[in-house]
Amino acid sequence: MRLPVLALALAPLSVALTNPRVLVYTRTLGYRHDSIPTAIETLHTHGPANNIEFEFTEDPMQFTDGTLSRFDGLLFVSTSEEVLDGTQQDALARYLRSGGVYAGVHSASACLYNDSVYLHAVGAYFDYHPSLQPATFLRVATHPATDPVPDRWRFAEEVYYWRQDPRDQGAAVLLTVEEGSYVNDAGSSGNYTFRAPHPIAWCIENPTYGQEGRAGRSFYTSLGHTNETWTDETFIAHVFGGLKWALDGATTRAYGAGLVGNNVTVATSSSASGMGGTGGAGGTAATTSESVARSSSAAPVASPSSSAPSLGVARAAVAAAAGLLTIL
Ligand SMILES: *[C@@H]1O[C@H](CO)[C@@H](O)[C@H](O)[C@H]1NC(C)=O
Ligand SMILES: *[C@@H]1O[C@H](CO)[C@@H](O)[C@H](O)[C@H]1NC(C)=O
Ligand SMILES: *[C@@H]1O[C@H](CO)[C@@H](O)[C@H](O)[C@H]1NC(C)=O
Ligand SMILES: *[C@@H]1O[C@H](CO)[C@@H](O)[C@H](O)[C@H]1NC(C)=O
Repeated sequence: MRLPVLALALAPLSVALTNPRVLVYTRTLGYRHDSIPTAIETLHTHGPANNIEFEFTEDPMQFTDGTLSRFDGLLFVSTSEEVLDGTQQDALARYLRSGGVYAGVHSASACLYNDSVYLHAVGAYFDYHPSLQPATFLRVATHPATDPVPDRWRFAEEVYYWRQDPRDQGAAVLLTVEEGSYVNDAGSSGNYTFRAPHPIAWCIENPTYGQEGRAGRSFYTSLGHTNETWTDETFIAHVFGGLKWALDGATTRAYGAGLVGNNVTVATSSSASGMGGTGGAGGTAATTSESVARSSSAAPVASPSSSAPSLGVARAAVAAAAGLLTIL
């Protein structure tokens, strides 16, 4: 059965004026997934072909108005526990209310449990999971995040259970899990309920942050536990499909809207960077802090008028060959 998420898929195509810039946050204070380096390498490798500039950090001090305003989107990957303090959570809330986009993968739902704005971004908090084992995920909506996914998608994964129903946060469910396709060999940590069919991945067109303007869209998938998954082309296309859908809500500067995002038009030496429309024609040199690691194919060009502050955001985030994260 397909749910009618069609309206989302058929929304007018947005044309980015420049590549959206996304900050990937992988800080953990609880469980740390050993697939995080693989996730970073995969995002780094696939960013250019998807016209997304990733920067990577585990430094909560980057959650300030000034730093976040440079980004069109935030991508939380396998974060755990209270990875931001109250001041940083306030900056995150202002960012989301300003049109900033949220995307979360796997245990991104297992952090910031006391942050009601974060709940509305992620959709639901993780409760527990049965042991890692093959399970069958069902494609229940037409959406950029599910276009690459088979109708029945079976692989070894943790099936997440929830403390809330994401539909109560406005989510349209994209993937569910077939109950009975795995063994539920664990139990809830509390008296939580959510509705069937069991949500696995979803998107939120208009998250409720109490904002005055238009908030950024959000996308969340609970898949992504293992290294193998993070190197699977179907999963990678699923994550990029969801992230790009959220960015294409066009609430940020990369799309000529909103209060946050990448407003720097990158001079392209190759048309392969694929910036659509006329917006990229300005020929303005890219301005970037040399201290900030980028995954764009466009070579960072030092500019005397660089407006990018000299930040500690994921310097040398990806050692090109090893894909290892360096936090300074
Ligand atoms: C996953 O990959 C990382 C290196 O990126 C490695 O350290 C880790 O052992 C791998 N995990 C498994 C279960 O193979
Ligand atoms: C979150 O709230 C609960 C309930 O008020 C409290 O017990 C817990 O200590 C809080 N956690 C953090 C990290 O603030
Ligand atoms: C769980 O919550 C439901 C609904 O509030 C309630 O009816 C039920 O008694 C609760 N069960 C336990 C074990 O607390
Ligand atoms: C981008 O936005 C910042 C902050 O509003 C501003 O200072 C800067 O001049 C803008 N740069 C361009 C190229 O528009």
